[in-house]
Amino acid sequence: MANVQFENLFKNYGDVKAVEDFNLKIADGEFIVLVGPSGCGKSTTLRMIAGLEDITAGNIYIDDSLINKVHPKDRDIAMVFQNYALYPHLSVKDNISFGLRAQKLPKMEVENRVLEASETLGLQGLLSRRPGELSGGQKQRVAMGRAIVRNPKVFLFDEPLSNLDAKLRHKMRAEMKKLHKQVGTTTIYVTHDQIEAMTLADRIVIMKDGVIEQVGTPNEVYKKPNNIFVASFIGTPAMNFFEGKVKSCSKSLTTITLKDQKEIKLTSNIFEKDQDIIFGIRPEDISVNLDKKGKMKDSIEIDAVISVIEPMGHETIVICDSNYGELTGKVESSHTLKENMNVKLIIKEEKIYQFDKMSEKNLLL
Ligand SMILES: Nc1ncnc2c1ncn2[C@@H]1O[C@H](COP(=O)(O)OP(=O)(O)O)[C@@H](O)[C@H]1O
Ligand SMILES: [Mg+2]
Repeated sequence: MANVQFENLFKNYGDVKAVEDFNLKIADGEFIVLVGPSGCGKSTTLRMIAGLEDITAGNIYIDDSLINKVHPKDRDIAMVFQNYALYPHLSVKDNISFGLRAQKLPKMEVENRVLEASETLGLQGLLSRRPGELSGGQKQRVAMGRAIVRNPKVFLFDEPLSNLDAKLRHKMRAEMKKLHKQVGTTTIYVTHDQIEAMTLADRIVIMKDGVIEQVGTPNEVYKKPNNIFVASFIGTPAMNFFEGKVKSCSKSLTTITLKDQKEIKLTSNIFEKDQDIIFGIRPEDISVNLDKKGKMKDSIEIDAVISVIEPMGHETIVICDSNYGELTGKVESSHTLKENMNVKLIIKEEKIYQFDKMSEKNLLL
């Protein structure tokens, strides 16, 4: 068990700035997920902790000791990769115990740790098989077993579930969470999948182009995104955006002109005249209405035409064309909505996110 700290960490590959000024304190026992699009520097960060990549500048501490110059094998870290990296000619048991035997631990100790890990992971019946005789999910468990038996200070996972089919990925996700509860080891987990990040993490670190965009609990990054990037990355289907320009503002009332010259009034004084605004609304906060009743209080009404309906079983994704571009709603499944129907999209003002177009920053924070 250990805390981990990054201090002004940089990694350059020639001209490529893979990681830029990465600062983070991870508490003992915390489950941290690094998430972001492909190429944003997640694996590079993980590999620097493991000692598989040189650090260009900055410091990494484990349990308050600087580890920049500590040999990888002396860092007391276990890493699980996407491709499992199992030895094909060794049995499951020998794969799991490989690291322990290399450390020359007593035979009984090795035996006990392997038994304990295989019980935790449900591998008891498979110990004599070779990796070639295992399913993807079982191979993944063996790779995790190999990490667990070492009882390391920190677990590092690099997209460990990406090679599994959707159903198995979901199952293994739940197992990862149970496992972390059970062993409590500080964990740094890399994924490009925001759902995996939301469901697993104590705190999420959202990265883009080598830079941290936001650190927060799943709830914080969903409810209070720092900027447009985070707002669009977290949540599925993604947040909708549309533009407006501040026409006038007083102490308590701002009038904003939308693209079709419609005006909305917001009780807010955070704006400047002529400021370009990007509004955001989550699909789950749009209601799709058929009836043409009068306007609801404190809400915006948008005329739209349904272009695509995606039934998901318990809910339905409704993609609409409007004067503000394509807007996606997520509603309870209903038999009344059909493609090509004219609808009114109702958006409650309190649910609207407001970003500055220039800086892309969330104006409501
Ligand atoms: N060995 C390398 N040599 C040169 N560039 C690299 C190397 N490894 C990674 N990069 C670059 O560094 C950036 C971050 O890569 P990476 O950490 O693998 O991203 P992620 O894991 O988030 O997909 C990318 O632009 C990638 O092309
Ligand atoms: Mg990667």
